[in-house]
Amino acid sequence: MKIRKAIIPVAGLGTRFLPYTKAVPKEMLPIIDVPAIHYIIEEALSSGIESILFITSEGKQSIEEYFSRNHDLEKYLKAGGNSEALAALKKVPYNFKRHSVIQAEARGLGHAVLHAEDYAGGEPFAVFLPDDLIFHKKPATKQMTEAYDKYKMPVIAVERVARNMVSSYGIIRPVRVAERVYNVTGIREKPPVKEAFSNLGIVGRYILPPSIFGYLKKTKPGAKGEIQLTDALAKLMKEEGLFAYEFEGTRCDTGNKYDYIVTVMRYAALQKGIKGKLKKEAKKIFGIK
Ligand code: G1P
Repeated sequence: MKIRKAIIPVAGLGTRFLPYTKAVPKEMLPIIDVPAIHYIIEEALSSGIESILFITSEGKQSIEEYFSRNHDLEKYLKAGGNSEALAALKKVPYNFKRHSVIQAEARGLGHAVLHAEDYAGGEPFAVFLPDDLIFHKKPATKQMTEAYDKYKMPVIAVERVARNMVSSYGIIRPVRVAERVYNVTGIREKPPVKEAFSNLGIVGRYILPPSIFGYLKKTKPGAKGEIQLTDALAKLMKEEGLFAYEFEGTRCDTGNKYDYIVTVMRYAALQKGIKGKLKKEAKKIFGIK
């Protein structure tokens, strides 16, 4: 079945970016001239997604505003002949059905996903965690939906993470099926380094069957006292099987200050005419000869 629907949990408080996130959602952190969530939606649409559910909270209206056309502004720019600004506005991906539901309590990713049961309407769907931006010519989610079509199994994205970082991720026990494709035979959320099955960490992209909701309902609070999606995936794995896909591409994290800065630098280096100047400036800033 074609994956047409996606859910994006955006209800988080963004405490790592306070005080900024007091007034602006962390998903709206700028990556130069577009908010981080812009790249998430671009990836979704270029992977065949047609409809998106934001699992949101109060004070996050600017996310939806960003994806709504501003006809007055467009008229004004047109009248003034400002074609450059008009072209910039056209970069926004508007072409999808937008839905939202409020997650009133912050009880974890699994709890957030449970809010999508009615929306999914019995169809398989994609989940995007908006802290993880992934660059590649072929969008990571497209790579995963192709694996889903081929193997007819739920698919989660994974990448190799530094051994000392495994306790920040969901970690899988992999049995190789094909290049980049693994059968998951064990999965655990944020294990201590010594107990980790591997260093294949879950990245924020999932292709899930609607049966995940049944498992989520039976899932008790786990790591950090939250209802963890990974714990429900462990049940799904046992009952129906679960595959992991080691996607091609570069993941950029925007969930903490350091990685966010690195992400902005990576994107800056991709902008025409900036890389050389940026390199020079960085040398000056860091005193590199
Ligand atoms: C979530 C998931 C975790 C995954 C990570 C990827 O954790 O629970 O399994 O590895 O996203 O970014 P969080 O980073 O929200 O704590």
